[in-house]
Amino acid sequence: MQKLLIKGKNEISGSIKISGSKNATLPILAASILAKNITLNNAPFVKDIFTMIELLRFIGIDIKIESKKKNIKLINKKKSINTLAPYKLVKTMRAGVLVLGPLLTKYKKAKVSLPGGCAIGTRPVNLHLFALKKLGADIKIKDGYIIADAKDGLIGTKIKFPSISVGATENALLAAFGARGKTILNNCAIEPEVLDLVSFLKKLGCKIHIEGRKIIVEGIKKIKNKIKHKVIFDRIEAGTYLVAGALIGKKVVINNIYSKIFKTEIDLLKNMGVRIHTQKNSITVLKSKKLKKINISTKPYPGFPTDLQAQFMVLMTQANGLSKIKENIFENRFMHVPELKRMGAKIEIKNKTAYVFGPTKLTGAEVMATDLRASVSLVLAGLIADNRTIVNRIYHLDRGYEFLESKLKKCKAKIKRI
Ligand code: EPZ
Repeated sequence: MQKLLIKGKNEISGSIKISGSKNATLPILAASILAKNITLNNAPFVKDIFTMIELLRFIGIDIKIESKKKNIKLINKKKSINTLAPYKLVKTMRAGVLVLGPLLTKYKKAKVSLPGGCAIGTRPVNLHLFALKKLGADIKIKDGYIIADAKDGLIGTKIKFPSISVGATENALLAAFGARGKTILNNCAIEPEVLDLVSFLKKLGCKIHIEGRKIIVEGIKKIKNKIKHKVIFDRIEAGTYLVAGALIGKKVVINNIYSKIFKTEIDLLKNMGVRIHTQKNSITVLKSKKLKKINISTKPYPGFPTDLQAQFMVLMTQANGLSKIKENIFENRFMHVPELKRMGAKIEIKNKTAYVFGPTKLTGAEVMATDLRASVSLVLAGLIADNRTIVNRIYHLDRGYEFLESKLKKCKAKIKRI
């Protein structure tokens, strides 16, 4: 099993090019089932993307990867395809459940493995199934699989999500795309990644209109034959490196982004006293001597993202006083806390809130990654800790961070994969 070895307390400085968003690429790859000929550019070549490609190939989509140009070409000219998403491919990558909507709306049936839980929570899909049933699907759960049928096709309707879900919004959009008539989705997730899927579906010829958390979809009649799409940048990767710069950056420039998307995160960092300068497509961040404590509560976009909770917690360990971070989205997303405490962090958890006392000196240790974002918080802690930190089970990291150690090494961090 590979590990990351980090020698702490080395200032980082330089520029970091942010990759495409994993969480925008996954639903757009699923949408390739609806299309005929797609060239997807700027997708991050990380494990989850290759797992989704494997699933789509299993279903019957022809996929070619042009690494140099960072293109993924997807061709689907088949009248009938394999409408099965097997457990072995969905269990490791929950977003595999996003093929359900496209298969159902185009091929009128689907058999998709229930994704099962992961380290951060049980990850149910009841909201996905709620929306598909409203569109007229017949859904059964049998032997751990979702068996969905829509013999007469899906019919547009009004749907109000009882709670906000990124994946359920995406599955409903993908299903409404091929439904007859208009679908009005209320209480939708409007993360930038969801909006990137919307812009992709519009390129395919679908009429979609967004008002706040309401999304109106006109079922498509004629699909455009051939389209190209460049995936939006990864705001969670960018936020991760913003924290790295705030922790130990002499001067770190984050490129290839659209800073308007980061208003919440930038305001929080500025409130902590982090020195930040934003341009339209780049952000410069400099380490700050004294960091002020802060209280954060994770919320759906445009609120503070749960995917940056673990990273900001490391920053809080260096802030003066008692900071609080409330995790409202997932039931078990504090797995990084015991590992950070082994490095000397002073953190207590009480009913979904982590109380972080700082500033505390962190010392290097051998730690274990548990989920994608928890793992990267251990890397951030390693950058500022005394001595050396070894992060185990970094396959979690490889699911969602493209070229992590080379991007940090380019900024003079002492980090290597062993
Ligand atoms: C997406 O997961 C992201 N993954 C997650 O990123 C991200 O943390 C999450 O959205 C929240 O922003 C991808 O886009 C591939 P949800 P998703 O449905 O869609 C509950 C990462 O690190 N819920 O918005 O699964 C659910 O349990 C990953 O890149 C139901 O109850 O998240 C959670 O408590 C981690 N029923 C809350 O809603 C459902 O049917 C939000 O989940 C669906 C979700």
